[in-house]
Amino acid sequence: MQILDHPGRMQDVADRLRGQGKTIGLVPTMGALHEGHLSLMHRCRSENDTSVMSLFVNPLQFDRKADLEVYPRDLEGDLKKAEAAGVDLVFAPAEQAMYPEGFQTFVDVAELSRRWEGASRPGHFRGVATVVTKLFTAVKPHRAYVGQKDYQQALLVTRLVRDLNLDVEIVVMPIVREPDGLALSSRNANLSSAERRAALCLYRSLTYAEGRVRAGERDAKALLDGVRTIIEREPLARADYIACCHPETLDPLDRIEGAVLFALAVWIGRTRLIDNVLVTG
Ligand code: PAJ
Repeated sequence: MQILDHPGRMQDVADRLRGQGKTIGLVPTMGALHEGHLSLMHRCRSENDTSVMSLFVNPLQFDRKADLEVYPRDLEGDLKKAEAAGVDLVFAPAEQAMYPEGFQTFVDVAELSRRWEGASRPGHFRGVATVVTKLFTAVKPHRAYVGQKDYQQALLVTRLVRDLNLDVEIVVMPIVREPDGLALSSRNANLSSAERRAALCLYRSLTYAEGRVRAGERDAKALLDGVRTIIEREPLARADYIACCHPETLDPLDRIEGAVLFALAVWIGRTRLIDNVLVTG
């Protein structure tokens, strides 16, 4: 497994691979790898000649300094997991290489960045859109793999690729969960055992909403009230936002008429977790 740390060098390797007619797949990550990340890598490997994983804890997308400081890091462990998952090349640039002095160009996906995660975390999606664009220009992938776990991010990356005519196919992969339903997240590592139990309220509330929609409930307020009650019953949990919205525009819905996305962000102690469920037809 090759490891590269400079965008220019990465571009040279990508050009060479493309020159040989090889397809390149990219899985962008911030490390602290778990089975969610690995599911993207397996799919990437099955669909491309060369699988690249990027590993970069992007300071530009952290709206709170404390969150960046406690973000779990395990370079050695990550490299082992990536190799075992069949990754051919890891692109792990240093901050200086990505944002050298004088850096001042940003990518803004205007509308999709506004709500939910974007409203709670000012500047977050600008940081995501900018780094993803830079990762795409460095790695030059034919396909890139993202998780539905970060639903709004996946939508935004798809939009950005369309709007800027980037020649990359975005593949969105399902959420990988623990056996009890908790969505895998690098941030789960920061939970105490009591918090880990409390964190189940995210999945429980989403499953409840899905069940009620399937049983015929069409009133968004009734559904949101039910979700909120489940979160509030958990003393260690505090809801940040709870969304019942259109799966493509992310606009809030009053009545469910077709597909609906339930998405939420909940503080469990000092850790902020997100999860979602897409209910179609
Ligand atoms: P990170 O949180 O490391 O996630 C990397 C990718 O793994 C994202 O596409 C995310 O949606 C996916 N992922 C995370 N948990 C998952 C799960 N439980 N099931 C399936 N997929 C999951 O998201 C980022 O990094 C960054 O914002 C990034 C896109 C790399 C830009 O910096």
